[in-house]
Amino acid sequence: MQRIIMYRNHTCGELRLANLGETVTLAGWVQRIRKMGGMTFIDLRDRYGITQLVFNQEVDAELCERANHLGREYVLQIVGKVAERSAKNNQLPTGDIEIIVSELNVLNAAETPPFTIEDETDGGDDIRMQYRYLDLRRNPVRANLELRHKMAFEVRRYLDAQGFLEVETPVLIKSTPEGARDFVVPSRMNRGQFYALPQSPQTFKQLLMVSGFDRYFQIVKCFRDEDLRADRQPEFTQIDCEMSFVDQEDVLQLFENMSRHLFKTIKNVDLDAFPRMTWHDAMKYYGSDKPDTRFEMKFVELMDILKGHGFPVFDSAAYVGGICAKGAASYTRKQLDALTDYVKRPQIGAKGMVYARVEADGTVKSSVDKFYTQEVLQSLKTAMQAEPGDLILILSGDDVQKSRKQLCELRLEVASQLGLRDKNKFSCLWVVDFPLFEWDEETQRFYAMHHPFTAPKPEDIHLLDSDPGAVRANAYDMVVNGVEVGGGSIRIFDKTLQAKMFALLGFTPEKAEEQFGFLMNAFKYGAPPHGGLAYGLDRFVSLFAGLDSIRDCIAFPKNNQGRDVMIDAPSPIDTEQLDELSLKIDIKA
Ligand code: AMO
Repeated sequence: MQRIIMYRNHTCGELRLANLGETVTLAGWVQRIRKMGGMTFIDLRDRYGITQLVFNQEVDAELCERANHLGREYVLQIVGKVAERSAKNNQLPTGDIEIIVSELNVLNAAETPPFTIEDETDGGDDIRMQYRYLDLRRNPVRANLELRHKMAFEVRRYLDAQGFLEVETPVLIKSTPEGARDFVVPSRMNRGQFYALPQSPQTFKQLLMVSGFDRYFQIVKCFRDEDLRADRQPEFTQIDCEMSFVDQEDVLQLFENMSRHLFKTIKNVDLDAFPRMTWHDAMKYYGSDKPDTRFEMKFVELMDILKGHGFPVFDSAAYVGGICAKGAASYTRKQLDALTDYVKRPQIGAKGMVYARVEADGTVKSSVDKFYTQEVLQSLKTAMQAEPGDLILILSGDDVQKSRKQLCELRLEVASQLGLRDKNKFSCLWVVDFPLFEWDEETQRFYAMHHPFTAPKPEDIHLLDSDPGAVRANAYDMVVNGVEVGGGSIRIFDKTLQAKMFALLGFTPEKAEEQFGFLMNAFKYGAPPHGGLAYGLDRFVSLFAGLDSIRDCIAFPKNNQGRDVMIDAPSPIDTEQLDELSLKIDIKA
């Protein structure tokens, strides 16, 4: 049957000179209206682009008058003829043509939007989030979601070709005490009991390996009630994967290839094999388990050179370390003071910063010259591999880990200032050999650095009782440009070792049984060796898009208080609903 009414037969992004003379029907939103003499021009926009419409007073006064009364974001359907533009716009793919409109149909009127729907909008963050559906009409935001779709699609295609099956796992699960805080959901049918939303499908994917699925993946929502930052959302998406009969090398190779495939197909970037760096080296040379390796500026430990010369700050420090900023000797006193203030901010917490410039003649001038001879400063220069024109920046402290963290922040800040963190350059690596445990001073106990299912390195198992802190894990993170994009591990698949792990983490056998009995039970029935990893899809997309926050590649994100300001969530619920759930709310001011 032939359709009598059709909303459109072309999109607003596809007409070209080749279509000259055709009569077309378009539908879309009014982006802009311009009146020039007896002519009215309207930019009609849809997801695919913008097409210029022309109304000529002399040809059809009534139609032109109607066009003059339209407003921004009105939804129109038009019929018209494709004509060549006299003034072409080479910024637009459709810029060679325009449509001489013969029929105008207003499908819907629109109120003036609270901010302009342009690439560079006048709307602030809050208003854009409140009217996110309008923000999503803007090109840059839409482009981010298109990229996200493409990446998820390529991941599915790649993993499918590698024999992975996508299996859905439940969203209402059991609360577990490890990791971040759980979001919980009260059960109406089971009074006083709660489900938890999964922080990841970790235990389920391991059970799928016990079931023999062999290669699993899922693009899946995960939920974590933790403090939010630019790279964290309370609900985010993982590309979650697990494989059976694999060792660490198998997992790293497969996912390195997948990542390379994404870089090539989506960004047309060819990457070499990803370097591997031990966690220990990452901490020692970059002060971070996710080093930004787009640039060098490695830490050099200077205790041997700079201690014992009468400078009390260094003499009493447990750690003295420096970085060499190439070509930055021209930093002014003002810039150096600003850097010192930067590292002294409470979030970073350094006590001060020492600097040394290498002059054109090779001599070194430092901010602590009165304590050091030129000879010592020359050894400093050699240790730092500094050359004339370079700037050496030094931090020290009583706590080695803390000082390294501070130096890491300084390194990143200086690199940003020197333009070394180019968003179009990609530097990937695997950080491997993480410690199995992390000691927590506050609670005086060990926590699993990754999660309690991670296998220790076989050669370190003998240290489990005598020196748990020294045990390394078969765990790995994929890091790109200083962002932890993914992480995983080879798992424990032996129930005795798993029980031992729970004991080391402070679980009584009863508690371990209550929390993870299902997994330990499953391990009794022939669990294969297995391992896997999960990528943060939001982080991967924002890296590809060059975004500062993962929020910008999520259609409806939460703000820093964990709120969705558009739908106004979270929000109170009525007493009836509370009663039904046997919940009493007693909010203290
Ligand atoms: P992990 O906790 O390291 O591992 O998470 C995997 C990846 O998920 C991303 N990610 C986040 N992204 C946005 N917002 C958050 N709040 C957030 N938290 C984590 C990161 C991270 O690398 N089950 C294990 C994986 C495994 O062992 O297979 C897991 O969840 O990019």
